[in-house]
Order: sequence, then structure tokens, then C-alpha cells
Amino acid sequence: MIIGIYIDIFINSIKKVIKMRKKIIISSGCGILLFIFVLSCNNELIARFNPPIEDISCYSEPSNFNSIETFDMKVDGDRLLRGKNIFFHETSCFDDGIVLNARQSCAVESAAKMNPGTNIYLLVLSNMNFSNATKNIIKHLMSYKNIHIRRIFMEKYVKNTPIEEWWASNVLKSSRWPRSHMSDILRYLTLWKFPGIYLDLDVVVKSSLEKLTDFTGAESWDDVAAGVIGFGPSHLGRQIADACLRDLKKNFRGDIWGNNGPGVITRTLQKICATKYARDMTSKRCHGFTVYPPSAFYPIHYKMWKQYFESKNKTQVLKVIENAYAIHVWNKLSHSEIINVGSDVPYATIASQYCPQVYNNCGKVF
Ligand SMILES: *[C@@H]1O[C@H](CO)[C@@H](O)[C@H](O)[C@H]1NC(C)=O
Ligand SMILES: *[C@@H]1O[C@H](CO)[C@@H](O)[C@H](O)[C@H]1NC(C)=O
Ligand SMILES: *[C@@H]1O[C@H](CO)[C@@H](O)[C@H](O)[C@H]1NC(C)=O
Repeated sequence: MIIGIYIDIFINSIKKVIKMRKKIIISSGCGILLFIFVLSCNNELIARFNPPIEDISCYSEPSNFNSIETFDMKVDGDRLLRGKNIFFHETSCFDDGIVLNARQSCAVESAAKMNPGTNIYLLVLSNMNFSNATKNIIKHLMSYKNIHIRRIFMEKYVKNTPIEEWWASNVLKSSRWPRSHMSDILRYLTLWKFPGIYLDLDVVVKSSLEKLTDFTGAESWDDVAAGVIGFGPSHLGRQIADACLRDLKKNFRGDIWGNNGPGVITRTLQKICATKYARDMTSKRCHGFTVYPPSAFYPIHYKMWKQYFESKNKTQVLKVIENAYAIHVWNKLSHSEIINVGSDVPYATIASQYCPQVYNNCGKVF
């Protein structure tokens, strides 16, 4: 996946260069492309082709009368320490209000619908309220009584955690992908503070996760992924959450996209389970921690992401994902693929079943 994303980023940067400098590129021909290809083997140089463009100044903006309700350590914290929890994070800043698109909203609704006894928390960093276009969908999300949307302030949220001082040293300053790395930091931080399950906003939850504890999913036989992670209240769960935060602090790299998300849980499990590959991480070797096979959360490999968007092989795809707890739909690769509401593709079928409020109220395009 990490390599796939690099190729994606690499191709995008070539596209940008081609658009801006078409003539120059053509005249220089393959030479430049070859040169870029050689450079792309080096992460630092990849980073240089992708200068930071993500604004994260909203993280430190104070809240105003229109901001999302602030996370309250007393009220929300108590609820989270007492119950079962699922967390989502939105780490973007916006110009005209927070946008939560239909697919992201679908992730939240599916979690709430399939886990009615679980607190569903969507934590945001922006100082704004939802955009006018998003407000309608949010209204439907809020019909689920177990969904809570709160704004967090990092300075407060990291207090009394192993990364408090580290965060204060302005770690995101060195990051090429600050929003993405913020999301990496938050998933381990939140699961350290509160037992529960972290989910990426590009999943659809297909069944109850209430019995799952101390687990993650592999996306292939070799690779552990970080899109779905659960650390329970047990000693094991707390120990692994702690090990992950310490690994994050020790090995954080702002110039490598996947180092701090999948990298953290992978390195931590390699140590705890004393083996390199996901396929060898049995619960026995991992002292009771479960690494679910790809069929649990990533039944369609990222190289096959288009299968979710095509009708021609739908029956087979639905069969393959039938027993998954949740499906990850690879938004990084699939975000610009349009789905018309009512179309006969697997993702639409799943959405109509597991996030009906969102699917039926999102307009013409899902
Ligand atoms: C933010 O938007 C939500 C949803 O529209 C609304 O219920 C809430 O009152 C707003 N917050 C404030 C502080 O206005
Ligand atoms: C959103 O809607 C409100 C009231 O309907 C309006 O005053 C405001 O200008 C709108 N905001 C944007 C960014 O369109
Ligand atoms: C149909 O879907 C299955 C499951 O994803 C896949 O293994 C198979 O290769 C697909 N067939 C075609 C023709 O795309």
C-alpha cells in the first residue's frame, strides 16, 4: 500500500509538472522523466516534489460562537472510560466550514447503525462549524443517538500523555503531509487515552465490532495496516497502546508518508510477536493480540479498488466481502471515482444497506 501510494503521489507530481511545463517537458523528452524516476527512489526528494500545501493553522484557532462543541474531559471523558467506543478523526482545515462528504458520513453512520451500544466519536480539529452543504447530512447523522461530534484542542488533549513534551516541540513543522500525520498521531493518542476502536473515514462497517478487542487487520499476507485498530481496556491493550505512542515519538518521520500510521503498529507488533510478517502474527505469538486476515477489513486489495465501483463483477465482489466486519474502500486512490445514487455497483449497494440515511439523503452523487 505504501509503495502504491508513493506511485500515486509520484504520478500526480509528474502530471502537475506536465501541465505546467508541457513544452519544456516535451523538449526535454524522456530524459527528465528518467531523472525524476531516479530521484523518486529517495524519500527526501519525493518530498521536495510535494511541498507542504496543507494548511493546519485552524488547529490552534480559538473556538467562536459558531464552532463545534468542544470535547469535555469530564463529560465525554467519563462516557468514554465507561463504555465501548469507536473513533473517527477529521484533521483538515477548511475555508467555508467543515466538509464531511457522503462517503465519510457513511463510515460514521455504518459504525453507529451496526454498533448501537457503542459511543461513536467524530473528533475534529477545525475551529469552524459544518459547511452549509454538509449540514443536511449531519442532521441525518445526528438521528443516531450514539454519535457525538466534538472539537479537540491538541495542547489539552495531549496533557499527561507520553507525547506531551514531544508534541510541544512542534513536530508537525517538519511534516510534508501534516494533516495525514496528524491523523496518524491522533489514532494512537486517542486509543492510548481511551479504550476503543479507531476507524478510517473510508470504511463501511458491515457488522457489530462490539466483541472485538485488542486487534488490527492485515491488508495482505505481509503487511499490517492502520485503518482499523482496536486497543481494549485490558492490560494487553494498554501495553500495546503505550508501546505504539513510544514508537511514534521515537521513529516519527515527517518526510515519509506511511512511517507513522501503518509503520507504528507494524514495528510494535514485529517486536511483540517477534516476527516480521503479518501472516506469522498469530494470536498465540502475539500474546493474545489478534491480527485479522485481509478478509476481515480489506477484502478487496488496494490494487483492485475499482471493483467497488464497477457493476460487471458485482455478484463476485459482494460474495468476497460477505463475511468482512468492515470494508476499506481506499479513498486515497478512489476519491475521484463518481457513484450516482441508484447505480448498480458494489459500493452503492453496500451504502444503501449500511448507511441508508446518508445514502438516501446525499443528493444525486454518493
Ligand atoms: C454547529 O452546527 C450544528 C449543526 O448545524 C449546530 O447544531 C450547532 O448549534 C452549531 N454550533 C454552534 C455553536 O452554533
Ligand atoms: C450558509 O447559510 C447561511 C444561512 O442560510 C448564510 O448566511 C451563509 O452566508 C451561508 N454560508 C456560505 C459560506 O455560503
Ligand atoms: C471479480 O471479483 C473477484 C473478487 O474481487 C476477483 O477475484 C476477480 O478477479 C474479479 N474478476 C474480474 C473479471 O474482474
